[in-house]
Amino acid sequence: MKKKFLDLGTHPLANAFLSKKEIKHPKREYFYKLSVGFDTKSYLVSLMRTVNPKKQYTDKYAHRASQSMTMKHSFKNIANILKKRFKPRISLEIGSNDGVFIQNFKKKKIIAVEPCANLARITKKRGFKTYAKFWTKMLAKRISKFCKKVDLIFSANTISHIPDYKETFDAIDILLSNNGVLVVEDPYVGSVLKLNSYDQFYDEHVYVFSLMAISNIIKSSGLRIFDAEEISTHGGSMRYYICKEQSKFKLTKRFNILYKKEIKYEIDKFSTYNSFSKRIKKSKKDLVNLFKNLKRKNKKIISYGATYKSTTVFNYCNIGKNFLDYVIDTTPNKQGKFTPGKHVPIISPEKGFNITVDYAFLGAWNFKKEIMSKEKNFIKRGGKFITHVPKARII
Ligand code: TMP
Repeated sequence: MKKKFLDLGTHPLANAFLSKKEIKHPKREYFYKLSVGFDTKSYLVSLMRTVNPKKQYTDKYAHRASQSMTMKHSFKNIANILKKRFKPRISLEIGSNDGVFIQNFKKKKIIAVEPCANLARITKKRGFKTYAKFWTKMLAKRISKFCKKVDLIFSANTISHIPDYKETFDAIDILLSNNGVLVVEDPYVGSVLKLNSYDQFYDEHVYVFSLMAISNIIKSSGLRIFDAEEISTHGGSMRYYICKEQSKFKLTKRFNILYKKEIKYEIDKFSTYNSFSKRIKKSKKDLVNLFKNLKRKNKKIISYGATYKSTTVFNYCNIGKNFLDYVIDTTPNKQGKFTPGKHVPIISPEKGFNITVDYAFLGAWNFKKEIMSKEKNFIKRGGKFITHVPKARII
């Protein structure tokens, strides 16, 4: 049974940045109720209500995974590790975005699946076999006619976005070879609980997985988990290694250690999520008070990174032009647009990150290291960052 534990109010789509023309018609902006529940049987944490993926993954999808050096390095690193460890003859990626992972493979050795047409065009143009389609059993069957079976299926920050997980894992089971491996990376519920990062919840993150939940939900698709590792990307993620029920892989030591940790932190108890919810209410209060205090002192505050996560923070905490002058972001197709729901203008760092800025809210807090080392001059001249993880504070 799914029990609600967190109500974040009404939200726009996290990725629906608006043009100047569009903010003139605010009634046309799509809003939905964002709340989160816990399944007491499978231990799966998920949104209470999902949005139709056809509304989300269109040919206007803004996120470009290769724009972050952190992600580029991470994907190169894991691609090399996976090639060495599993020696796949042919691989496939579900949710290949702009090709940041597949570019580490030979073109004939990997297949890309990406429903956003604008992104699929990029990998197709570069010569990779690309299916501009949603991942389904039908597609898996179609691909199997082309290449029979696949030895490695990789999917980062995608499986947690697909509402029908049963269809997703059944489709994987169709295409995976008998000793093939599925590697999944997604934000981890343990990190969300530890960091109070409620902004991991937005329309695209239908699920925030744990080892316990993943182990439970893949069973009926004939799959099992045999290894896992915690990774730092996207503010704390888990990498799951999954195989067919009958395959050769044995449970690893590091999996057992991580699983025991989940038992210790009561990932399988509703009360854990109830306490989290109380902490989030406090986080909102503290962050708004922090902004209010700075505004009283006439400080100029901007936001650093027009992230999906900050769409959740701004709409939940009601932070908009009342506190922020603008948002800066390096992504060209976000510049000149306005943030979803709160309509704060987004401009380039070249234009906006100057000496007039006193405080910058870390919308892209998951890139804190990268940003801190890049923005030494801002800090040197007295500029300060604000964050809400693990609690609202000035850095
Ligand atoms: P993400 O957390 O959804 O991947 O988005 C990160 C956003 O932050 C993306 O739009 C790019 C932006 N960003 C900057 O503007 N400057 C930076 O230094 C970094 C690391 C990210």
